Amino acid sequence: MADGSSFYITTPIFYVNDVPHIGHAYTEVASDVLARWHRQAGDDTWFLTGTDEHGQKILRTATANGVTPKEWADRLVETAWLPLLSTINISNDDFIRTTDERHEKNVQLFLQRLFDAGFIYTGEYEGFYCVGCEEYKQAGDLVDGTGQYAGQQVCAIHSKPVELLEERNYFFRMSDFTQPLLDLYESNPHFIQPESVRNEIIQFVKQGLTDLSISRQSFDWGVKVPWDDTHVVYVWFDALLNYITAAGYGSDDEAFARRWPGTHIVGKDIARFHAVIWPAMLMAAGLEVPKQVFGHGWLLVGGEKMSKSKLTGIAPEQITETFGVDAFRYYFMRAISFGNDGSFSWEDLAARYQSELANGFGNLASRIIAMLTRYFDGVIPSPGELDAADEAIRTTERRVTVAADAAINRLAIHEALAEIWELVDELNGYITIQEPWALSKDPANRERLGTVLHTAVRGLGTLAVLLSPVIPDAAAKLWTALAGEGHVADQPVRSAWEWTGGPAVVPLEPLFPRIELPEADEPAA
Ligand code: ME8
Ligand code: MG
Repeated sequence: MADGSSFYITTPIFYVNDVPHIGHAYTEVASDVLARWHRQAGDDTWFLTGTDEHGQKILRTATANGVTPKEWADRLVETAWLPLLSTINISNDDFIRTTDERHEKNVQLFLQRLFDAGFIYTGEYEGFYCVGCEEYKQAGDLVDGTGQYAGQQVCAIHSKPVELLEERNYFFRMSDFTQPLLDLYESNPHFIQPESVRNEIIQFVKQGLTDLSISRQSFDWGVKVPWDDTHVVYVWFDALLNYITAAGYGSDDEAFARRWPGTHIVGKDIARFHAVIWPAMLMAAGLEVPKQVFGHGWLLVGGEKMSKSKLTGIAPEQITETFGVDAFRYYFMRAISFGNDGSFSWEDLAARYQSELANGFGNLASRIIAMLTRYFDGVIPSPGELDAADEAIRTTERRVTVAADAAINRLAIHEALAEIWELVDELNGYITIQEPWALSKDPANRERLGTVLHTAVRGLGTLAVLLSPVIPDAAAKLWTALAGEGHVADQPVRSAWEWTGGPAVVPLEPLFPRIELPEADEPAA
């Protein structure tokens, strides 16, 4: 991808029926790392996130809590969803709420256009609806209930009974798009990623799509159908449109042309909505389909998808309060192959914190800066002639920069980190072998000592620039110690090996201090 090209990235907009857990934070961090990388590469980046506030699920939660759905949504956005973004250091450019006027107005505009183009008709529908999913279910989507729901059919995702609905609704002619969608998947193999999600969706669409009920009449918490205000728009139809209403559809043609199409990062639970319904809607409206839909894996607890409805949610603060924001971000991006499921474990997090962040990276940085301070009063020495070991470090700096950028373009965030960590490990090995502390003992080795520390500190500069999208706070602290100009997040990431630090270093704050873990197995008092 050439520098300066447009990169529009989105997360799902999350339901405000409850507070966020680390599953939501996971999607946010992954999208944020991609956005920060592209921004730092000079691409014209725009990062959107937000909240999904209409529909029966939110209405029921609000009613159960004795407030209006709008009051409920306002409360949750203010006290939970916006604070999440600072808890995990998210750099979003915009935050859309489906109750925003800019959204509601243009949902109506879009729907009216589809109606005028003949893609909408009135029909009867009878089917099983899961309010947790906000979706009609086919018989094949249901499983036998257990426990209090034994003897009933329940939603396979929420493990709760579905409801039989019979309504007169408006329908979208989605069945017209079975073949166009299959053609899209075939002509653009990267449209849906990863492969496992792509295959599942192709199998699903190959069975033939049915038309989609896109309005509801039995409650009114939603966007009114423009030509019939006894109906509200189906919450998914409304929600998916956030990706274009936020980008200027209907309100700012120039912004829309510049941003759209976007890359959607979602969990695999909702990949079908994004890779089937959404492009069909766009095709019907004569708009471009998304650039890509990536359905990442699930964070599991006890082998099951972590979820609030099953009471297995872990709040992000539970982790950041002990380990810090950077460690949170690093851990989930490093420990889980992006696209696969992963189990969160405190032991694994603590182990990686200690070995990779504190010992591997933090110690490396503090040792190099301390030696420069001790042996050269902080002034970075000019190098003498480079030997093979020094050249090898320079080669690695270039290689991992190029490889990490390529991995990011494939959305393989874990691979990008693995590449960057090769430089961490190699620099540690270099210091061990070169033994600058031994060189310092004999003035005859002064030039060699300078060359070694020069090479080492350049490596740190490369690491600060490459790691800024993932661990922005630690990278900024290191950048301060390297006395670089401006902010580390402004140093071009695709040429990270070029030294843009200052002529002398200043002392470094500890990057990943020792953590006193709460005694897990101490008996409760
Ligand atoms: O589906 N592991 O919102 P939602 C990983 N409003 N990611 C997880 C996760 C887990 N255990 N649990 C949740 C909706 N997520 C709709 C979206 S978009 C137009 C409308 C993340 O609040 C993951 O990104 O149920 C998943 O797709 C999303 O939260 C679902 O969030
Ligand atoms: Mg959900």
